[in-house]
Amino acid sequence: MCGIIGYVGKNNSVSYIIDGLKKLEYRGYDSAGISILQEGKLVTVRAVGKVAELERAALQVNPVGTTGLGHTRWATHGKPSEENSHPHTDCSGELVVVHNGIIENYLTLRTQLESLGHKFKSETDTEVIAHLIEENLKHVRAANEEEKLIKAVQKTNKEISGAFAYGVMWAHAPGLLVGVKNQSPLVVGIGKKESFLASDVPAFLQHTNKVIFLDEGEVALLRGGQVTVLDKTGQVKKAKSVRISWDQKTAEKGGYDHFMLKEIYEQPQAIEDTLRTARADFGKILGLDTSTLRGLKDIHIIACGTAYHAGLVGKYYIEQFAGIPVSVDLASEYKYRTVPHMKGTLAIAISQSGETADTIGAIKKAKSLGFRTLAICNVLGSTLTRLCDSTFFTHCGPEISVASTKAFTSQITSMYMLAITLGLANGNVSKAAFDKLHRELMRLSKAMSETVKLEYTVRHLTRKIYKADRFIFLGRHVNFPIALEGALKLKEVSYRSAEGFAAGEIKHGPISIIDKGTPVFMLMPHDSVFEKMLSACQECRARGAFVVAITTPDGVAQAKRVADMIIPVPQASEFLQPVLNVVPLQFLAYWIAKRLGCDIDQPRNLAKSVTVE
Ligand code: F6R
Repeated sequence: MCGIIGYVGKNNSVSYIIDGLKKLEYRGYDSAGISILQEGKLVTVRAVGKVAELERAALQVNPVGTTGLGHTRWATHGKPSEENSHPHTDCSGELVVVHNGIIENYLTLRTQLESLGHKFKSETDTEVIAHLIEENLKHVRAANEEEKLIKAVQKTNKEISGAFAYGVMWAHAPGLLVGVKNQSPLVVGIGKKESFLASDVPAFLQHTNKVIFLDEGEVALLRGGQVTVLDKTGQVKKAKSVRISWDQKTAEKGGYDHFMLKEIYEQPQAIEDTLRTARADFGKILGLDTSTLRGLKDIHIIACGTAYHAGLVGKYYIEQFAGIPVSVDLASEYKYRTVPHMKGTLAIAISQSGETADTIGAIKKAKSLGFRTLAICNVLGSTLTRLCDSTFFTHCGPEISVASTKAFTSQITSMYMLAITLGLANGNVSKAAFDKLHRELMRLSKAMSETVKLEYTVRHLTRKIYKADRFIFLGRHVNFPIALEGALKLKEVSYRSAEGFAAGEIKHGPISIIDKGTPVFMLMPHDSVFEKMLSACQECRARGAFVVAITTPDGVAQAKRVADMIIPVPQASEFLQPVLNVVPLQFLAYWIAKRLGCDIDQPRNLAKSVTVE
């Protein structure tokens, strides 16, 4: 899980590459490096730590050249160190490779290459690619050096296995960058007399929004503003470019201290944009005709982390509105359990990035079982969207902060739209009921605009509690997954111990960890389970907990009697309330992390998209 950027054009590539790497740091950030082709020689600079360290080191060396590659690394093979940082070179030092993903047969290849005399300098799987291309360059026949490199890369692709994307630059073919995509993300940006190779669009979006999404097994050849794509059989393909509507400002912090905060505030817009497409015929967007919708007997939701929590909320929705049984699996578990075959099963993968290896693996399994597949995803052209039969895009724009916020609420919103559409199609919901549910949904963005005003209240509260050792989150019914999400968010960004439970479960064990002053957050809108939540408040308070009630206006008076503090959230319908209730918990995580001085957008040990199992 790393970030690749390449530039070939008319300007000095260094600043393009360093800027691109900064935009890709969310993909991993234990070390970084660049290689620049300067007067026929490759100049490589690498540094452990963030891209800022690399920038400092590059300034000292000051390389100049119009073709270059860069990389930000998140270690998979070999510890974070300068030797293991990319770019990696062959024995001659004339060829460099940057790589994202895993070469599964690297040990076998390394042994073979060592027996042929290749000398390895790192512990990485990536270095195998550089030496293998070097070896293959000796054996291919070609009219010129460029063609030779392309053929050697194609031969190499047949010999390596795994999920990978990589970029190559060779001193003997100046002005050419070669990119290879196989199950790891790689996109091409086309500018004026310049082009870019990158793991993700924000890396070059400030220079161009014209993008080619490569398909699996494809090779891209970049020469200035000219890009050629070879398909997996090696034939030149007429590659389609698309214009990305995200501008650079959207992909940057826009005045907030952190992307996480900016993204929390973007939620009204994210919901609005997600629902805009849903105003049309949602069934059609899903690529599911009415008879398919009617024939669905069983739904499997597959996701990881925050997206899994969105899936848990989705189960309540689909079972309520469509009456179809739903199972929700962690993608990493779905792959390994026995999944009974059924006719009429729809597998839904929820993923912000569309590149999460576990989710991709699970959806491949669902496909192999003959299930119809649907992705709820935020990233156009991502691997998951190519794998699934159809996709509904969440349209919340790039989510840069590692901690997912706006993607989560957009995912829940999409699940709600899906559930009521299914219900209408299979007759579980009448047209009149559907219209009412739809109207409530269309009011959600406005209610979200009110909800984000809660930042000040939550910020003030965190002053009292940010030093606590552990935090507890409780919810019932549709708000139970929100308790899980509140705890996950807090753990991720503040490194505090936090746990979420179904409120009815605490008496079965977890109550023993509640101590004097333990902050307990109660998700208790004034709904069908409000009374039960009042009892849970009393149980916790009796053990000395500091109880914070997140409730709606009608619940405030009663909640005040059993809680130490109230966070009043705007009222939505019972089933849409979770979308609003999570917002104060997002602010809570943000402000506790901020007070503790944590690296909010890039928490330790985490990366934005987890492209390894
Ligand atoms: C939490 C978080 C992760 C992701 C998970 C799935 O804030 O960001 O738990 O939700 O890694 O990622 P996607 O949605 O990209 O598949």
